[in-house]
Amino acid sequence: MCGIVGYIGFKDGLDVKEILLTGLEKLEYRGYDSAGICIYNDGVKIFKDEGRVAHLRQLVDMDVPSNLGIGHTRWATHGIPSQRNSHPHQCHTGRFTVVHNGVIENEIELREQYLEDYDFISDTDTEIIAALIEKFVAQGESASLAIRHVMGLLEGSYALGIMDAATPDKFYAAKNKSPLLVGVGKNFNMIGSDAMSIIKYTDEFIELHDEEFIVLSANEVAIYSILGTRVDRLSYKETLDASDTEKGVYPYYMLKEIDEQPFAIRRIVAEYFTENTYNINPEIVESLANTDRIYIVAAGTSMNAGFVGKQLFESIANIPTEVHIASEFVYNTPLISKRPLFIFLSQSGETADSRAVLVKIKKLGYKSLTITNVKGSTLSREADYTLLLYAGVEIAVASTKAYTSQIAVMAILAANEANWDAKVLKKELALIANVIESITDNKLLFKELADKYLIKRNCFYIGRHIDYYVAIEASLKLKEISYIQTEGFAAGELKHGTIALIENGTPVIAVISQENINLNTRSNIKEVKSRGAETIVISLKSLSAATDQIVIDDVFPVLAPLVTIVPTQLLAYYAALGRGLDIDKPRNLAKSVTVE
Ligand code: G6P
Repeated sequence: MCGIVGYIGFKDGLDVKEILLTGLEKLEYRGYDSAGICIYNDGVKIFKDEGRVAHLRQLVDMDVPSNLGIGHTRWATHGIPSQRNSHPHQCHTGRFTVVHNGVIENEIELREQYLEDYDFISDTDTEIIAALIEKFVAQGESASLAIRHVMGLLEGSYALGIMDAATPDKFYAAKNKSPLLVGVGKNFNMIGSDAMSIIKYTDEFIELHDEEFIVLSANEVAIYSILGTRVDRLSYKETLDASDTEKGVYPYYMLKEIDEQPFAIRRIVAEYFTENTYNINPEIVESLANTDRIYIVAAGTSMNAGFVGKQLFESIANIPTEVHIASEFVYNTPLISKRPLFIFLSQSGETADSRAVLVKIKKLGYKSLTITNVKGSTLSREADYTLLLYAGVEIAVASTKAYTSQIAVMAILAANEANWDAKVLKKELALIANVIESITDNKLLFKELADKYLIKRNCFYIGRHIDYYVAIEASLKLKEISYIQTEGFAAGELKHGTIALIENGTPVIAVISQENINLNTRSNIKEVKSRGAETIVISLKSLSAATDQIVIDDVFPVLAPLVTIVPTQLLAYYAALGRGLDIDKPRNLAKSVTVE
């Protein structure tokens, strides 16, 4: 959601416009509807519009040389996507130019208190930041002081890039709750919303904390607290490989990431096992052993992985586990047990809803573990412990390999707690990686099924037991990229209302991976079939019937979601492909949801 890049300096042969545009392209995955950049060349020049970065590229005058600029992709929150509302925004005099990721919650109060007579050009909350800085500078404050003054007034989240036309030998940044990193170069320095937007130019990074103010020039990065105290922080080397962020031979990142799932599982095995034993931070093992209840907090696909995690922790490790929608937790806070352990599941490690819960439970003094794909992300930094997914960068908005990786890590945690023989689980996960490969090798099957059946307005996934949780995630995948209205149901619940929606040709996809539900789910398939539904059945081999279209080699039943989800990811992919949609960047969605 919204992306920022900023650059100052003189990296050989590089043009700031190209750096900003390439950086914004790397941030496209986050979801956006408008893009813009501004550069300094004897004054500030702004290029911005609604639409993709490719469109912005055509607007930018590439002949203007520059060594300073900031850029932005906008996901509309205040005001419709339009040229006027696109970032960067300026104050009236044009001296200060601002890009902003986040939401200012007290913007109305600030407008009323400080800017009553100000004539705003846009509908955004960002414009008030530029206007306030200008106001305080006009009252005699230095630019640095004015920015920190404004930071102190803002409630909500922000990552900011700010240019001052009066001092083009530097630019400013600030951060609170929204992600922002500094990239340190030789003769140049950068800011970016994530490492991918910077890694092409440098692998040396500095992390930023909330309420910090940063001054960047070509040869220096100075970090200050909101009160103006200098902060010393060492840089670190980022190991992300620039080629990880390329599509390679794939038409879409989503297909590449579906195909990467076997590698991701093998990598998890390599990281979390030694030859014959588990390799997990003993403090995490102890926290799990001491807890009387796990609270999994997450959003979207990660929450759906959390449901499977609940099954794993309860059935393997005997630990009562609750799953909570992050955005609801703050209001619908459950009664907390005596020795809770909070697990935050998050691909990005940046989801604002989850972070709000982490902040809350930390205040209450509870222990927290983040399971994430992004080292150094906010949820990782702020929780007591972190377990990484090692899945490699996930770029498609529709999450695939992060889901299976989260389940694999939770399975290892639960199995370790239950003293499962590590060698047995290791072998099973290796088998699962091979089974996933055999599914992804057979893409034509999924294309044919999607082309034949997933052409209606509605669709249903059904399952019982752990297959129900897979049905929920499968339906999310299909709806988010194909826009087919899809619901995932507990198969037995369908006849209590929703079966009324079944008509001739409605696709109903059933998942069957558990012996004790096989017959019942098959009865439900008959019920919908006799009302006109077109059914697709995904089953494990030992439970399969001759008519099942997708039959998967057997794996441990409790780990079945790791394989049964894969056909549903491919069905979603081909349904969206058949409709000619932008698979990696579905409408209205953002990869990293950094506002509550
Ligand atoms: C957004 C993304 C989803 C993701 C969810 C949670 O909605 O579009 O793909 O599952 O956020 O993100 P997280 O990074 O916390 O897993």
